[in-house]
Amino acid sequence: MSYNLLKGKRGLIFGALNEQSIAWKVAERAVEEGAEIVLTNTAVSIRMGTIDRLAQKCNAPVVAADATSIADLENLIDRAMEHFGGKFDFILHSIGMSLNVRKGRTYDDLDYDYLAKTLDISAISFHKVMQVARRKDALNDWGSIVALSYIAAQRTLYGYNDMADAKALLESIARSFGYIYGREKNIRINTVSQSPTPTTAGSGVMGMQDLMDFAERMSPLGNASAEDCANYVIALFSDLTRKVTMQNLYHDGGFSSMGMSRRAMRTYGKGLCMEFKDVRDNRFPFGRPDE
Ligand SMILES: NC(=O)c1ccc[n+]([C@@H]2O[C@H](COP(=O)([O-])OP(=O)(O)OC[C@H]3O[C@@H](n4cnc5c(N)ncnc54)[C@H](O)[C@@H]3O)[C@@H](O)[C@H]2O)c1
Repeated sequence: MSYNLLKGKRGLIFGALNEQSIAWKVAERAVEEGAEIVLTNTAVSIRMGTIDRLAQKCNAPVVAADATSIADLENLIDRAMEHFGGKFDFILHSIGMSLNVRKGRTYDDLDYDYLAKTLDISAISFHKVMQVARRKDALNDWGSIVALSYIAAQRTLYGYNDMADAKALLESIARSFGYIYGREKNIRINTVSQSPTPTTAGSGVMGMQDLMDFAERMSPLGNASAEDCANYVIALFSDLTRKVTMQNLYHDGGFSSMGMSRRAMRTYGKGLCMEFKDVRDNRFPFGRPDE
């Protein structure tokens, strides 16, 4: 269903690799809501993935750019402005990659060259995109910029590795740049902290299936899907959220506010040792009060 929320708006979308990508869903929804878009990804991802299908569907050009390369970003922003015939209104940064994760290096055995790459690709690229866009005065007043984050920036989730540090930096960059771009041009910058989602990047996370199951049981609304995430990002690109900036916005079905849920407790209860179960059953001989 379309509400024409982005009618007349134009935007640049990083990170659509294949149909599972969160950026893919955002691109589809943005066009449904009336936006014109330019798509971008690395040359390798363009070759390996299926972004051309999305481009066709969205009637959008694809411009190759490595988001860590200033030269590539300058070319990308120029090409986007040429395509749009001027400035544009929104940017989605949907980029993440850790070589430490890929190569199986644990957090207490990090390769520091890989760590530098993780931070550059997954966080500093966000700063680079915005610095290049600002220098080229590429965005209209009241524009909106969103990057995707994860709760591992605030809480330790075993196995998320150096991506947790990258997400913490990403969220900090949103605040620091949000002040500058907001004061100057009323451009808002936020991060959306999304539920675990089955995508190519997501499948690289250690124990992803268990993590998704845990988050699903803990969240009163259940995990947010990539489609749900796209809807939220569209709202952030729309004029309905013009005073929201410098925020890390949880989009996780309530997970971030939970300590323990009944559904999760039941699961772990099944694994309790008999001794503990006896104690529990004696305390609540007629069943636990909330059962
Ligand atoms: N999947 C999840 O569980 C989850 C949860 C919370 C946040 N996120 C975040 O969402 C974002 C999108 O990931 P996704 O889950 O859709 O997976 P995805 O694999 O579909 O997208 C990751 C994208 O990053 C791109 N990328 C990697 N290096 C790049 C570079 N140097 N320059 C430009 N692009 C580059 C890849 O080509 C790919 O398109 C990431 O920031 C990820 O950390 C994902």
